[in-house]
Amino acid sequence: MKEFKDKVLCVTGAASGIGRAVALEGALRGMKVVINDIDAEGLTETEAMCKEYGVPVVSLAADISSAENVEALLNVCLDNFGKVNIMVANAGVTAPGPVWELPIQDINWISKCNFVSHTYAMHYFLKQMIKQGDECCYMNTASGAGLGISFSSCMYHATKTADVVQTECTYLALKSRGITNISMHVLCPAYIKTTIHLSDNHRPDWAAINDDPYYQSEEFIAGKIRAARGVSTGIPIDSVGLTVFTAFEEDQFYILTHPEALVVQQQRMKNVFELSHPGT
Ligand SMILES: NC(=O)c1ccc[n+]([C@@H]2O[C@H](COP(=O)([O-])OP(=O)(O)OC[C@H]3O[C@@H](n4cnc5c(N)ncnc54)[C@H](O)[C@@H]3O)[C@@H](O)[C@H]2O)c1
Repeated sequence: MKEFKDKVLCVTGAASGIGRAVALEGALRGMKVVINDIDAEGLTETEAMCKEYGVPVVSLAADISSAENVEALLNVCLDNFGKVNIMVANAGVTAPGPVWELPIQDINWISKCNFVSHTYAMHYFLKQMIKQGDECCYMNTASGAGLGISFSSCMYHATKTADVVQTECTYLALKSRGITNISMHVLCPAYIKTTIHLSDNHRPDWAAINDDPYYQSEEFIAGKIRAARGVSTGIPIDSVGLTVFTAFEEDQFYILTHPEALVVQQQRMKNVFELSHPGT
């Protein structure tokens, strides 16, 4: 896609960080913008920032992990602007720890926010884009964690890997059916200075922190500190909107912010080829 003006952009997880940066880049380019987040206050701020570019902006404050809310978001696009040209499924969360220590509610929370909601969005939005038949872009925000493995935040790695694979397979499914109006993209960033380490601030009620001992555990507290330290080493958010839109312009499928981090993927594939253990 080379021309963006007056086309319709939809972004989830747009109250801060990468989602906000992508929404602002679209507004800068004259797009009509539809934004979603569970954080209503942050979403209002993003709406005001986008409006400074003189474009129409509509927001839906909702938990995007439910299929009903994803469908409602598509309807917001259609009711206000009659179509959608770029969809960015970006909302995501993280919590530390191995799966035997994570409470079941956190397994569900991370799965639904990072992967299932993105798949719901592909279901509804791709169907609409195929129906429209005009030029569209679709991007899932996965992570560099979706290309490599580590001992920490196993659910984060697993859901991000699933998000990458879902995007890859869907690209092939579109191609196999001769559907050429939609370019597919997957964003796999390494650390960017955002508030991703503060995911707990925007948990839906059904995943609220409770009296489960996990939330007082060494694993949980140390993991939070590790995540905050990691994010603090990240690149500034400033370049990310441009990186994403350049990839749309150039029809680049994999979008990386730190190509040097691919070494972990090479290591993983080496283990597979050599039938050795992970990380050896
Ligand atoms: N920042 C990084 O270093 C980094 C690296 C790799 C991948 N990512 C991914 O980038 C995406 C954006 O994260 P970010 O770094 O901008 O962090 P962020 O915390 O600033 O943004 C994530 C947004 O998602 C929203 N969100 C969470 N749960 C939601 C729900 N159920 N419904 C609707 N919105 C919800 C949050 O309120 C928040 O505004 C995430 O998918 C994250 O996993 C971030």
